Amino acid sequence: MQIHVTSGAPGALRAGALVVPIFADGRLDGAAQAADTELGGAIADILASGEIKGNVGDVALIHAASHPTKRVLAVGVGKREKFEVAALAKYAGTAVRHLGKRNITSIAFALPLEALPHLEHAASFLVEGALAGTIDSTTYRTEPDKLITLDDLAVVSTAGPHEFDKAALETGIERGRIIGEAVNFARTLALTPANDMTPTCLERHAAEIAKKVGLTFHALDEAQMLEKKMGAILGVSRGSDEEARMIVLEYRGDPSTSDKLALVGKGLTFDSGGISIKPAENMHEMKYDMCGGAGVLAAMLAIGELKPKVNVIGIVPSSENLPGSRAMKPGDILRAMNGKTIEVINTDAEGRLILADALCYARELGATKIVDAATLTGAMVVALGHSAAGTMSNDDAFRDRFLEIAKDTTEKYWPLPLFEEFNVTIKSEIADLRNSTGRVAGSLTAAAFLQAFVGDTPWIHLDIAGTAYTDSETPSLAKGPTGYPVRAFVALAEDTAMNSHARNGAARATTAT
Ligand code: BES
Ligand code: MN
Ligand code: ZN
Repeated sequence: MQIHVTSGAPGALRAGALVVPIFADGRLDGAAQAADTELGGAIADILASGEIKGNVGDVALIHAASHPTKRVLAVGVGKREKFEVAALAKYAGTAVRHLGKRNITSIAFALPLEALPHLEHAASFLVEGALAGTIDSTTYRTEPDKLITLDDLAVVSTAGPHEFDKAALETGIERGRIIGEAVNFARTLALTPANDMTPTCLERHAAEIAKKVGLTFHALDEAQMLEKKMGAILGVSRGSDEEARMIVLEYRGDPSTSDKLALVGKGLTFDSGGISIKPAENMHEMKYDMCGGAGVLAAMLAIGELKPKVNVIGIVPSSENLPGSRAMKPGDILRAMNGKTIEVINTDAEGRLILADALCYARELGATKIVDAATLTGAMVVALGHSAAGTMSNDDAFRDRFLEIAKDTTEKYWPLPLFEEFNVTIKSEIADLRNSTGRVAGSLTAAAFLQAFVGDTPWIHLDIAGTAYTDSETPSLAKGPTGYPVRAFVALAEDTAMNSHARNGAARATTAT
């Protein structure tokens, strides 16, 4: 696929369709106004008739033999006063899906004048959203549904008489491509069913990423995990013939420091619940229980391409959770890598078990900050629905910074408390900890359990159970995996790079005076 900047000049516009943004106030300006003039007032007519209003998700396709692209797609971008450049991801995704389903594979996108103060970001969100729109879930059909192909994506550098800075657009396009491709990579891994997507398959993908963008890779097999006394993940893996893996990718972008950000993701390739087996209804969705892990691999891929000045380690504990004659049983007691003993009350609370060893391993590998993402609890879906991922931490400043950064992505995170009393709730009568405490505050007690394995390392836990996948298609995105937490992980790595840079700069300046 080609992604490039084009001037809006009629001779330069070779796309199959030009896409223009329409605000909900119905006032046409910039590229939308210019297109309306070229179309003899057709967009204004459509708005006046009420066919579309300019709300997010609204589309109207106008055919006009006289227009250089022959087709103009008006796409709603919502309220003008509430506009944020991140909305351009949905704008582009909506257009790609609408046009793609109609076999239009070459699309030129106009930007609203409102993008002007943030051109680089605008282009980045636009490309990220357009790429996200191309993914569909029919690859396993012998005759796949009309797949959306996008051969040529152009960002128009003019909006009516206004000229945008082409260099800024080009920088943004490249960033958007890297993030969009990483997000789609994570989504494709998640879409792959559990009979194909096993822990060793995830391991192979990690090795490929390492080769592609030059990261260090290693993975522990079960014998090596036994040597490291990782009894928690090994307990989960016992019921399955598929071997578990502890997958590690490392990016060294700042040799001047030993600071290291660890991204840890739950890579449970299928969660049946184990002996505490889940009900059959919707159990098939538990192939998505590795979305956190896929997110880590994808984020490492993007980080390897973006090359921020920061050290990042990605860790994916990966296992199946199945019942079997050797499976762990309720009442069993496991011993995690840090020596803590865990009474297994419910074998379906397996995510916190595999993460326990991964968090210990992150610390052994020198992590100075840890963020984990996991489809950890059904209670998370009850609490925040599919709108935002719960964000829990042992360090308020770190969490607040993360929430601030994540606001500049198309992902949504929301803070939840880690009350002191949960540390008592998670105690076992017979062992140090128990892995399940019942329904009350289920997401928070799960987080409190994880906290027991991070010591005093600043740590954030993201419960993406409600956001990692959706069960319905939207105008801009197919149903299925969403790509959480790739965008937030990449943004955090970049921000960490900028901050340590600023700190070092300040230190140097002080020494100089
Ligand atoms: N993977 C599930 C959590 C989940 C549920 C994710 C629904 C996405 C949608 C997790 O392993 C699990 O089974 N959690 C249990 C914990 C309980 C037994 C303490 C849950 O939430 O019911
Ligand atoms: Mn489970
Ligand atoms: Zn699970």
